[in-house]
Amino acid sequence: MTALGFYNGQFVQLDSLQVPIEERGHQFGDGVYEYVQIYGGRPFLLQAHLKRLERSLVAIGIPNPYSAEEWTQLINEAVRRSGESEAAVYWQVTRGVAPRVHVFSNTLRPMVSLTVYPRVGQESTHEMSLLAWPDERWTHVWVKTINLLPNILAKEMAKRNGANEALLVREGRVTEGGSSNVWFVFKQTLYTAPANRYILNGITRQFVLKLAAQLNISVAEEPVDWQRVPDADEVFVTSSSAEVTGVSKILVDRQVEGALHSVPPGIPGTLLPELKNIRTVWTGTCPGTVTQRLQQAFSEQLQQLRDAVPAELL
Ligand code: PDD
Repeated sequence: MTALGFYNGQFVQLDSLQVPIEERGHQFGDGVYEYVQIYGGRPFLLQAHLKRLERSLVAIGIPNPYSAEEWTQLINEAVRRSGESEAAVYWQVTRGVAPRVHVFSNTLRPMVSLTVYPRVGQESTHEMSLLAWPDERWTHVWVKTINLLPNILAKEMAKRNGANEALLVREGRVTEGGSSNVWFVFKQTLYTAPANRYILNGITRQFVLKLAAQLNISVAEEPVDWQRVPDADEVFVTSSSAEVTGVSKILVDRQVEGALHSVPPGIPGTLLPELKNIRTVWTGTCPGTVTQRLQQAFSEQLQQLRDAVPAELL
């Protein structure tokens, strides 16, 4: 199938989309988004994603254009029309269209765009490598804003240097990945950064915390110091797209390492520097035993979703 789009009340082909020039999403990045994966035609943890969407919208003062029921209907309808049972759905809500001034006008009406893409392969069967990168984002990372410039630059740097994901570090502590949450295992205990303003509290992260409790794996929601990373027994990342993916290697560039602890003075010529002194900080078994237990429990949940009796047959 080809990807399907939805814009302001209508299903459309992706290449037919025409966003008004004065739409604030692309002019100011004035909006928020969500992403959910579809398994066996059903969205996974959709209600949790809708709650986080509501929190993001409330945070920046955009009225939610739909109720949870309406969002659920829209997403299910989009998936149905796509004809795809294994798919990925992104949706954005922006503040709307108005003459370009920073402050809000009274006539603004939120705009909704949505895409359904077919999903290929299971990322969780792969292993990942991470490139450590300074987390210089704002201090409201918990809002799932469409302003992703620092994330995309960090991930681009990772890719250019042979890694799959960025490992973001702020003031000497690991926060999260460029588009995922990061977990460490030290002596059979799971560590992941606390859900404060410095991480996006992943829906997958919250689900994995529940799985860990069911499996009697002890968890510390504490930030991991960058200095401690070499001693990790296992590392993995979670996100709606990566599910639970083991990490095999963590890299850092010697020139960049200082910036993991504090913001350097001075203005760099580029935010995409050529890295010449990359070293491996950590390598380990991938996936490790704790990671494997969580992957197993996670895929059982996905299988249950795929096997569930369709609502129309009940
Ligand atoms: N990203 N942290 C960041 C910065 C993210 O962008 C994401 C998700 C996560 C994990 O959140 P969740 O488990 O709810 O997917 C953590 C999505 C997948 C994306 O931007 O494509």
